Amino acid sequence: MILDGQSSAAIEQAASLLRAGGLVAFPTETVYGLGADATSDAAVAGIFTAKGRPSDHPLIVHVAAGIPGTESLSRFAQPLPLFAQQLITAFWPGPLTLIVTRQPGVGAAAAGGQDTIGLRCPAHPVAQALLVACAAQGVPGLAGPSANRFGRVSPTTAAHVQDEFGDGLMVIDGGACAVGIESTIVDCSRGAPVLLRPGAITRAQIAAVCGERVRDPAELAQPDPRASGTLEAHYAPNAKLRLMDARALQTGLDVLGANAAHIAVWSRTVVKSRSQRVLQRRMPDDAAIAAQQLFAVLREFDAGGARLIWIETPPDAPEWEGVRDRLQRAAAA
Ligand code: TXA
Ligand code: MG
Repeated sequence: MILDGQSSAAIEQAASLLRAGGLVAFPTETVYGLGADATSDAAVAGIFTAKGRPSDHPLIVHVAAGIPGTESLSRFAQPLPLFAQQLITAFWPGPLTLIVTRQPGVGAAAAGGQDTIGLRCPAHPVAQALLVACAAQGVPGLAGPSANRFGRVSPTTAAHVQDEFGDGLMVIDGGACAVGIESTIVDCSRGAPVLLRPGAITRAQIAAVCGERVRDPAELAQPDPRASGTLEAHYAPNAKLRLMDARALQTGLDVLGANAAHIAVWSRTVVKSRSQRVLQRRMPDDAAIAAQQLFAVLREFDAGGARLIWIETPPDAPEWEGVRDRLQRAAAA
């Protein structure tokens, strides 16, 4: 069932269901999340079951905006290092998740049993309204992975969520997500910022705020915690996805000629096919707009019956890192 996020009655209804241990999908500026009371291990177990996700994969906990260091944050996290506080001041509410040391005794299931926890304060007004209503009912945070089944493309509209889970799930509609790819994740539990997942907030922005070089997971001595967003194959459409440059794309279409079918193309460069049955969409030249469209385009290609998706490799520029990352993982599936 899809409810209007502008309605305060709908927000209250959703908060009550969450308070009772139920699941509610909600909009954020990045992608839609599948929410449950982060302090209830039983409620969080419902997320893992619904998604078909292994229960040792940690989830992100969403908290309401407030003065940093106030209630919901300290409920879940131990005192933060200075650079983490600086990131919060600079980017919250917004598309940035911080991995911090967890308060023992809270959010164990949400954290997948790890002693760290992912925290994010989303900027979407409907998400904030829901988080505030939940806090008022004694729920200080919502565990919320992307509202898709495990390994699949993240949803950026309420209809996408319904396509994933059917009509039995309560979905709060907040329109199409403005960012379109999941939040940037920075691990702040290892003494220096480590970029676990690139996103709209770039490596350079993080380095500027922390006054430090941003590390890559490969530089760390300890192995990564299990983290599905960082699995090599993830975010996969049904069709087989390939990345190639514009020349290879054009050559491929020329080889298939007028008989090309079940192929979809997303490219910045204009390429031509002699077949009417090739689905073509133009990739925007602006990385932020391309990110906003990415998952919806993949879903549209799947729905259009594509068996092959050919995508022009995004530019090797810093602002494209998030889109490149998602496409490389989708291509690896
Ligand atoms: O934009 C987003 O972050 C969206 C919206 C709904 O907020 N959420 C999202 O959640 O993408 P999810 O569960 O699909 O991805 C969360 C990722 C995990 O796959 C993992 O990579 C990382 O966050 N993560 C969470 N907690 C962690 C922890 N304690 N240690 C390491 N990585 C963690
Ligand atoms: Mg996900």
